[in-house]
Amino acid sequence: MPGRTAVGLDIGTSGVRAAELSYGRGGITLEKFGQVALPEGAVRDGEVIDRPIVVDALKALWKGSGFTNKHVGLGIANQRVVVRQVDLPWMRPEELKASLPLQVQDYLPMAVGESVIDFHVTEELNAPEGRQLRGLLVAAAREMIANNVEAVQAAGLFVDSVDLTSFAVLRSVGKVNSEVATEALLDVGARVSNLVIHSAGQPRFVRVLLSGGQDVTDAVAERLGVPSAFAEAVKRGGVDDLDPREADLLRSAVDLMTEVFVDEIRSSIDYYSASNPQFPVERIVVSGGGSLLEGLVERLGQATRRAVVAGDPISGLHIGRTGLDEQQLLTVNPLAAVPVGLALGVIS
Ligand SMILES: Nc1ncnc2c1ncn2[C@@H]1O[C@H](COP(=O)(O)OP(=O)(O)OP(=O)(O)O)[C@@H](O)[C@H]1O
Ligand SMILES: [Mg+2]
Repeated sequence: MPGRTAVGLDIGTSGVRAAELSYGRGGITLEKFGQVALPEGAVRDGEVIDRPIVVDALKALWKGSGFTNKHVGLGIANQRVVVRQVDLPWMRPEELKASLPLQVQDYLPMAVGESVIDFHVTEELNAPEGRQLRGLLVAAAREMIANNVEAVQAAGLFVDSVDLTSFAVLRSVGKVNSEVATEALLDVGARVSNLVIHSAGQPRFVRVLLSGGQDVTDAVAERLGVPSAFAEAVKRGGVDDLDPREADLLRSAVDLMTEVFVDEIRSSIDYYSASNPQFPVERIVVSGGGSLLEGLVERLGQATRRAVVAGDPISGLHIGRTGLDEQQLLTVNPLAAVPVGLALGVIS
């Protein structure tokens, strides 16, 4: 394996997942991809709750997947991350960096002193009140980041960078496309979903939603009165001896939760559209395990009246000796959006 590689690490509700990329003159190669499942409750809403379990899973991931690099770019996505579009008076980058904490407290629900903050400039504006910078203000609770970073370090790994999961999805799935000016990327997880609206790679809107496929599983478990693991199998269509009553309950639970989720996405896109009429969302690109729910893509298309397509984080990469066959790569594809995007961020 080539010397210089980058690893992206995604700590999700259902498992820890990592991708290792190498960089050569011929392009970027996916060298390794691996995942290890986590039991329910080990990670909640993007935060490590049961550190020993997560540490063991990370150790097993490195042992089992053949990664050559222990330095990672770590993804962060949860409700303690705030992303807002903000306009600031124009200033030079050094000045912006130094004065950011003073400029942005009014936009944040948490104390600047307890947050890690960043500002991604997306546009320069000539407003009546003078030249301005429009951008996305990102703020994350410092303690939450530290908690996740410490879990990774306790597994013997090194966190070289921390990045918003949404930006990782943007890098891996938001390929610049000459036919589409603006699109929405939606990574649907188990408990956390990331929505990013971008134009040619430039993020315009980011929302972290605390909903995903686990909500559907929970509803199925409750309606059918079965344990979560069984509900999960039923949801994925892996149980075919349901009686008609059970099949009805299953369908209504899935339908209801899909509708609630789709409504949430539609209202986020509507909210964005109201303040950005000049950059309309032309299509939606989905990724994440939760996007595999039967009927979700169709419902999303009907509700938003936009084309919905599956993202493809792997297609632009050469495939190295991953140990995965073609079929496995197809299965991995929706799950690779976040770790691949995080690894891409380590290099850029
Ligand atoms: N074939 C499938 N059909 C329906 N749902 C599926 C399928 N495969 C996976 N899922 C759902 O995908 C979800 C997990 O997605 P993913 O692995 O992207 O989440 P995660 O990254 O672990 O969690 P999160 O990002 O919420 O912390 C689960 O709710 C699971 O039920
Ligand atoms: Mg996820």
